[in-house]
Amino acid sequence: MPDHSNTVAIVTGAGHGIGRAIALRLAQEGAAVCIMDINGQQAEETADLLREAGHEVIFKVADITDFAAVKRAVGETETEWGPVGLLVNNAGFTDAGDIDGIALEEWHREVDVNLNGPYHCLRAILPGMKAQGRGVVVNISSVNGVRFFGNPAYSAAKAGIINLTQSVASEYGKHGIRCNAVLPGSVRTENASWEIRIRKDPDVFRKLARWYPLGRVAEPEDVAKAVSFLASDEASYITGVSLPVDGGLLAGMNVMIDEFILEAKD
Ligand SMILES: NC(=O)c1ccc[n+]([C@@H]2O[C@H](COP(=O)([O-])OP(=O)(O)OC[C@H]3O[C@@H](n4cnc5c(N)ncnc54)[C@H](O)[C@@H]3O)[C@@H](O)[C@H]2O)c1
Repeated sequence: MPDHSNTVAIVTGAGHGIGRAIALRLAQEGAAVCIMDINGQQAEETADLLREAGHEVIFKVADITDFAAVKRAVGETETEWGPVGLLVNNAGFTDAGDIDGIALEEWHREVDVNLNGPYHCLRAILPGMKAQGRGVVVNISSVNGVRFFGNPAYSAAKAGIINLTQSVASEYGKHGIRCNAVLPGSVRTENASWEIRIRKDPDVFRKLARWYPLGRVAEPEDVAKAVSFLASDEASYITGVSLPVDGGLLAGMNVMIDEFILEAKD
C-alpha cells in the first residue's frame, strides 16, 4: 500500500465525488489532507467524514478561478501544517453544449474552472515545492482531453491540462518535482452533468458499460487508487505521463468492432 505519511496534501474539489474519494484514500494512507472547495457545506461534510475516521484534515473554501483566494488558502495551509508536498488538481465541471450552441460566458467559465483554476493552484504551490526540492502534482484530466466525447469547452480545457502537465514535468523535474495526469472515463458520481443524464435515463451507467472493455463504468475509488499510486514513491521515476483510468475505453472501438467488424465475418 502506498505510504503518504508526513505529506501535506491539497485536494481541490474534495467536497464531492472523485475528490472526496481521493481525499479519503490519501488520508487512509497517512497524508494530512486539506480540502479546497468552492462549496463550504460539501467541504465540511468530507472533512467530517475524514475526522470521524481519525484522520488529520482541514478545509478551505476557495473558488480556484480566483487566484487571490487560492493563494490565501495555500498560505493558511502552509502556516498551519508546513509545506505542501502533494497537489491533486481535481476540481472541475462541465455543462453540456455544442460549439455554436454554448453561451460565450459558459465557454469561458468551463475553460476558467478546468484549465485556469488548476494553473492557479500550481502557481500558488510550486514555489513552496521548489524551495523544498521535492513535490508531486496529479492533475485530473479526462478521456475527453484526448478524444472528443462531447462538451467542447470542457474537452479543450482537459486537453490543455495534459499539456500543462508536461510543462510542469519538464520545467520542474530538476527541482525534484513530478507531475502526472489521470484521464478518467465515465465515473459514477452525482456531479451536475451526470445528474441531468440520470434524470433522463436512470439506467445510463449500465447502458454506458458496453462501451468499456472492462464492462463497467469507473467508481470514484478506481480514480483514487491511480492518484495514490502516481503520488507515491512507487511512481518515483514517472513524470509527465497521462494515465487513462478508463476501463480500456481509449484502447479501441469496442462497440464498433462488436457490431460491424466481427459481425461481417459471420
Ligand atoms: N465523473 C466523471 O465521469 C468524470 C470523468 C472524467 C473526469 N472527471 C473529472 O474529475 C473531477 C471531479 O469530477 P466529479 O465527477 O467528482 O465532480 P463533482 O461535481 O462530483 O465534484 C466536483 C467538486 O469540485 C468542486 N468545484 C467545482 N468548481 C469549483 C471551483 N471553481 N473551485 C473549487 N472547487 C470547485 C465542487 O464544489 C465539487 O465539490 C473533475 O475535474 C472532472 O472533470 C470526472
